[in-house]
Amino acid sequence: MTDTENRVIDPEPKPGDRLDYALRPTGLEDLIGQPLIKENLRILIAAARQRNEALDHVLFYGPPGLGKTTLAHILANEMGVNIKVTAGPAIERAGDLAAILTNLRAGDILFIDEIHRLGRVVEEVLYPAMEDYALDIVIGKGPSARSVRLKLPRFTVVGATTRLALVTAPLRARFGATYRLDYYQLQDMEDIIIRAADQLNVPAEAAGITAIGQRARGTPRVALRLLRRVRDYAEVRADGIITQQIAMLALDLLNIDARGLDEMDRRVLRAIIEKYGGGPVGLSTIAASISEEADTIMDVVEPYLMQLGLLERTSQGRLTTPAAYEHLGLQPPRSAQQPPLL
Ligand SMILES: Nc1ncnc2c1ncn2[C@@H]1O[C@H](COP(=O)(O)OP(=O)(O)O)[C@@H](O)[C@H]1O
Ligand SMILES: [Mg+2]
Repeated sequence: MTDTENRVIDPEPKPGDRLDYALRPTGLEDLIGQPLIKENLRILIAAARQRNEALDHVLFYGPPGLGKTTLAHILANEMGVNIKVTAGPAIERAGDLAAILTNLRAGDILFIDEIHRLGRVVEEVLYPAMEDYALDIVIGKGPSARSVRLKLPRFTVVGATTRLALVTAPLRARFGATYRLDYYQLQDMEDIIIRAADQLNVPAEAAGITAIGQRARGTPRVALRLLRRVRDYAEVRADGIITQQIAMLALDLLNIDARGLDEMDRRVLRAIIEKYGGGPVGLSTIAASISEEADTIMDVVEPYLMQLGLLERTSQGRLTTPAAYEHLGLQPPRSAQQPPLL
């Protein structure tokens, strides 16, 4: 049994998230927050423009829902080029990638989502394509087979991944720029919600916006989804205006607590505390004990719990902090009350 599909605060895109597209910022100026990344990208774009070259290959990494796909599209808009969108698991054979590459035009962006899931053989085709804009293909079979090198137009790979550690070193080395996206500050979250509420024509009071922002785990995609749920609640149970009280009631109903944790986050913490004495315990053991996917826990649950200081990853396994006990209203054991030795 898994309730991943029902998670309101799952930062992964869902089929019903069409609004995500409608609300996506199209230019760097519309992108809220991430000042450092924006400034770096401005320079990258201006330099490529001045030299009349294709943009350098760019890799974005970080938890889901923070804007990696959005940034890829913004880069294409700002450069005024086409973007071809694909994903690691979608490119099954070397021939699939060859077909994509030979259809690119000069300056085009090839966006490869989940780039850590590219197959080895496919990756080997990508290396010379990124480095030398060349495609090595084998013609014929058996002893008469020979390799020919096709020239490709100068294009740009924009990669995105939630797992930088799984991107092989040779692939990483071929990106001219790598940027890490981090969870957004409350102020940025509020700005994102205000902008979306404006676009959706939802009346919202400042305190209502803050209430949503505080529980959206620093993740724009989650904020947009919560805004929609709160809007529903406001329209059905009240006069349609998102006030603080309405936001709180709606979010309580969704079982999202004051720090933005949902049922799954709390189950992870509770499992470690109640079944394994607070840890350390291995990820796969936790996953099995609450019947959830280890990948989901690792990509979605843990980064946010670590960000809040409720969980630590150690070489021996996962460890809850005294703050986690406190958050769940539990009494930490004596040993957990001592500050960690650093
Ligand atoms: N910095 C931002 N400012 C405004 N909206 C954002 C920002 N980052 C993300 N979003 C919104 O959140 C949604 C999810 O972003 P997305 O780029 O799909 O995330 P990722 O690819 O990292 O999972 C987007 O549709 C966009 O509307
Ligand atoms: Mg994405």
